[in-house]
Amino acid sequence: MSNIIDGKSVAEQVLAECSEEIAALKNVGITPGLAVVLVGEDPASKVYVGSKVRKCAELGLHSRKIELPVDATQAEVLAVVEELNHDPQIHGILVQSPPPPQIDEEAIVRAIDPAKDVDGFHPTNVAKLALEDGSGFVPCTPAGCMRLLKEAGVETSGAEAVVIGRSMIVGKPMALLLMSKEGNATVTVAHSRTKDLAAVCRRADIIVAAIGRPEFVTADMVKEGAAVIDVGINRVDDATAKRGYRLVGDVAYAEVAPKCSAITPVPGGVGPMTIAMLIANTIKAARQSG
Ligand code: GUN
Repeated sequence: MSNIIDGKSVAEQVLAECSEEIAALKNVGITPGLAVVLVGEDPASKVYVGSKVRKCAELGLHSRKIELPVDATQAEVLAVVEELNHDPQIHGILVQSPPPPQIDEEAIVRAIDPAKDVDGFHPTNVAKLALEDGSGFVPCTPAGCMRLLKEAGVETSGAEAVVIGRSMIVGKPMALLLMSKEGNATVTVAHSRTKDLAAVCRRADIIVAAIGRPEFVTADMVKEGAAVIDVGINRVDDATAKRGYRLVGDVAYAEVAPKCSAITPVPGGVGPMTIAMLIANTIKAARQSG
């Protein structure tokens, strides 16, 4: 019965909408600009940052990639953020997470001008999300998950939703979006200390898995007909794969998919949406800057 949600195609649709908005902004003399800051050499982060900058170029957005060495100091990163806060060509600033251990990430996020915080991590934007103030920025991954549910025709209103994971990047904002006046779901946030997680999950009409543990959600945890959004991207060793690893989600896809009314694959589900929503947030920041 499974309906596979094609994140690539929904992301293309979002980006097509973005292209129209970019053209409209350029007509009034504004080219949206995104700055991406990468501290260190984390290979996965390098790939993510590269694709963000490439996507900007494809769409005709202005972008800057700022790479700092792995031993960069807090003061050096703060100085870069400060410079970007005052750069009129830059409307969105993203400091790739996780930074090296000497960097106090929370302090960096607080230093970003909230009007340029396209990640939606600054306390001002966290508060705006909780307050349902539409002028704020919603974190890209949960915003993408909401859009996928909508495009797949999954009714959130009145639904029992279980979010697994309570991170500031995904779990908490996802719960806020699902329980908002837009989502109208009844939301449970489950995490590592949740008692009988399987029973909690089995109640769910909608499961959002964001725990970062490969194939954690198994078929016995999923109700027949549930919609499942898999936020996980985990590398697992695979000697038969060319790179020596393969990517799997937080959901045991092969056994869970047959039970679902809708499910996102990994890769090709939530992943492509994150960049699309980042571009959408950058355009919003540019629009609101005028
Ligand atoms: N690392 C993984 N996901 C994200 C994200 O959405 N934003 C930033 N800044 N870093 C990340």
